Order: sequence, then C-alpha cells, then structure tokens
Amino acid sequence: MATSSPFNYDSLYSRGSVPVVRGENRHAKYDFAVAYPDPDTLPLEGLADSLRLALEREGKGLALYPVSTGLPSLREWVAEKLARDRNMTVGVDDIVLTSGSGEAISMIIAALTDPGDVLLTEEYVYLGTLRTMRRFGADVRSVKCDDQGIIPEDLDGVLAAVAAEGKKVKFLYTIPVFQNPMGWTMTLERRIKTLEITQKYGVPVLEDDCYVDLRFEGEDVTSMHSLDDTGRVLYVGSFSKIVAPGVRLGYMVAPQEVIQRAMSFNGGGGVNQFAALAVQEYAQGAMDDHIEEQNQSLRVKRDAMLAALGENFGDAAQWSKPEGGLYVWLEMPEDVDLAAIQNQVFDEGVGYYNGTMFSPEGRGANLARLCFGHPPAEHVAEGVAELARIFERRGILGG
Ligand SMILES: Cc1ncc(COP(=O)(O)O)c(C=O)c1O
Repeated sequence: MATSSPFNYDSLYSRGSVPVVRGENRHAKYDFAVAYPDPDTLPLEGLADSLRLALEREGKGLALYPVSTGLPSLREWVAEKLARDRNMTVGVDDIVLTSGSGEAISMIIAALTDPGDVLLTEEYVYLGTLRTMRRFGADVRSVKCDDQGIIPEDLDGVLAAVAAEGKKVKFLYTIPVFQNPMGWTMTLERRIKTLEITQKYGVPVLEDDCYVDLRFEGEDVTSMHSLDDTGRVLYVGSFSKIVAPGVRLGYMVAPQEVIQRAMSFNGGGGVNQFAALAVQEYAQGAMDDHIEEQNQSLRVKRDAMLAALGENFGDAAQWSKPEGGLYVWLEMPEDVDLAAIQNQVFDEGVGYYNGTMFSPEGRGANLARLCFGHPPAEHVAEGVAELARIFERRGILGG
C-alpha cells in the first residue's frame, strides 16, 4: 500500500502558468448568466445522421493524423460561407480550423502578445478573451462604446495616449455583431471610422464574428474584414452558436505569416477530425434550416425578455434591444451595486453576470448581462419578474 505523501509540483511550474479554478457549473432556477444555447434546440438528430453519412464515406481517413489546419472540405465550406454572408474573399489556405473560436483567439493573442503589451477592447468585452489577454500578461485597455459601436473619438484618444507613453498597441479586439455583453451591432460608418483610425496608428484589428448568424431582425452589416484590403483585419468565427458549443469547432482567417506564428501555439496537432466530419456534412445540408428555426425561438425569448423588463422594471432601468444574438444589457442607476449582490441573487433563483466581470478596468457594477438564449421561453418572463421581486426586496427597485 502506498504511504508516501503526494508529489509536490510547486517548484516546477512555469512562470506563465496560473491555476485555473474550475467552477462548479451550478445553475440558478432562472439562469440568465450562462451563454449556452437551449439544450432542447440542439440539432442532435441532424448531427447523428450527418456523422453516420460522413463516416461511411470518409471514416477510414480517421486512421491518419489530420491536416493540422483542419479538414479541407470544412475549410472550403467556411470560405464559401464567408463569401456568401460576409463579403469576404478568402482561400481555403487562409483558414485554420480550431477547437472553438476561443482557441483561435488564444492562438492569435499568444502569437502577438508579450507581457506588458497594450491590447485594446471594447468598453465591456467577452470575458473569455479578457481572461486570455490577462493570462498572457497584456495591459488591456478599453475604448468607450455607444449603441452604434466603438466611439471613434475615444478610440483616437486612447491610441494617442498609448503612443504618448511610447508604447505600441498590438491590436484592437472587437465583436462588431451582437456584441457580448452589450448587444449592439457596429454600424457601417463606425466600422469604416474604426478602420481608418487604427490604420493611422498602424494597429491591426481582430474581428470576432461569432454571433453573426443569430440575426432575427434588421439588416446585416458587412464584415470589417471585407472593408480592408491590406491584411490588417484578422477574423474568427465559430460553430458554437449555430451548431453547439460541445462540438468545439471554430476558425481563424489570417494572412499566412500570422497563421504560421499562431499555429506554433496549437499544441494538439489540429482540430478534432471526427467532429469536423460531422459538422461538415451537417453544414452542407440541414444547417441553414436549423439556424432559421433557432433564430425564431431566440426572437420569441428576446421579445419575452424585453416585454418582461418593460412590465417589471419600467422607468427604473434601461436596457438594450438587440436585433439578434443572446444578450440584453441591463443598466440600473449608478448607485446600484449588482456585483455585490450577484451571488445572493443567484442563490435566490436568478443568475446574471454583472458589468465588472466584462470590464478591463473593473467598471460597471450597475450593469448586468442577461442571456435569454439558454432558459426555455416560459422561464424568461418568469425569471425577469423574479429578478424584479428580488430587487424590490432589497430596496433596489420600486418602493
Ligand atoms: C464573443 C465570443 N467570442 C468567442 C467565444 C468562444 O466561443 P467558442 O470557443 O465556443 O467558439 C464566445 C463564447 O461565448 C464569445 O461570446
């Protein structure tokens, strides 16, 4: 029987490693915190059929290690989709499949960032990206936004201030469609301005378009990538929002030299070919219909959330009215601290993420992201009413 004490790794860790504490994955009764899809809307049958078909045709290829940039036929499909939907002219070799767009973002950050480098984001930003930027020791600074996107004057001011410090901004990260967490879509004019200003300072842009297919109202705005012909816009997309996060498939589009550098941070020899085969087959067939159905369901939930906010919060708060995506951005009066009470409100039955979690500077305690995508439709209105009751009990609302 072993009697010795457990091996101690403390003196062995690399300087760059940090402990990642895994959460318990608890869910509140009304869960507006997580950014997951509704499990009941996943296209499981379609995926199962697609997997069988793909394996019958190409399954024996699994005996080989896949091409490190990912299944060529899926990259071809991505290139066609980007041409059709995002006005992008890119070749199969300009695309790398990754384990979710999160991996693509991480590889690009790794390839471009040394500790202390300045990276810019929108005022509030997807916290996965924010965490990765911090993990690489970046000095993350934010640019102010309104409901049309990045505010050009502020972008210019922030870039000028960094230049005045004698520092270089490595890139600007933006989520121009159904921004996470703020919900807006950047207008064409703002996209053009953002590109002009960043060009003036010689700064590339990382465009994260992972919500672009979740539009249930309004007109698409062309990608920032399509507005640039110099290779200064890097682009990432995802299958998480249109198939399922569990398939772990996303992609990056970048110039060859950036791809080569980014690939040096891909440790696992490329993306899962088994998942790529199923998704490629599914994407050729039923996926467009699935996206349409999913968007109809999301629209119902968005409407339910907006109506419930109107009924229960009235003039006591403000909130965004997104034309797609998964999030409503709630703004309470300045003196309300939604960060301080987040855990208690969760224990009382309603989950949300407060603004400070998304802010590089830790601002926004009176703000919260409410995700309407995950709960079933009937829970959305009930959950907002419950949130209002909890706030009333705490004297934040009404009275
Ligand atoms: C803006 C944004 N980018 C990227 C991701 C990462 O998604 P995935 O790695 O599943 O493609 C998310 C996940 O929610 C997100 O909100």
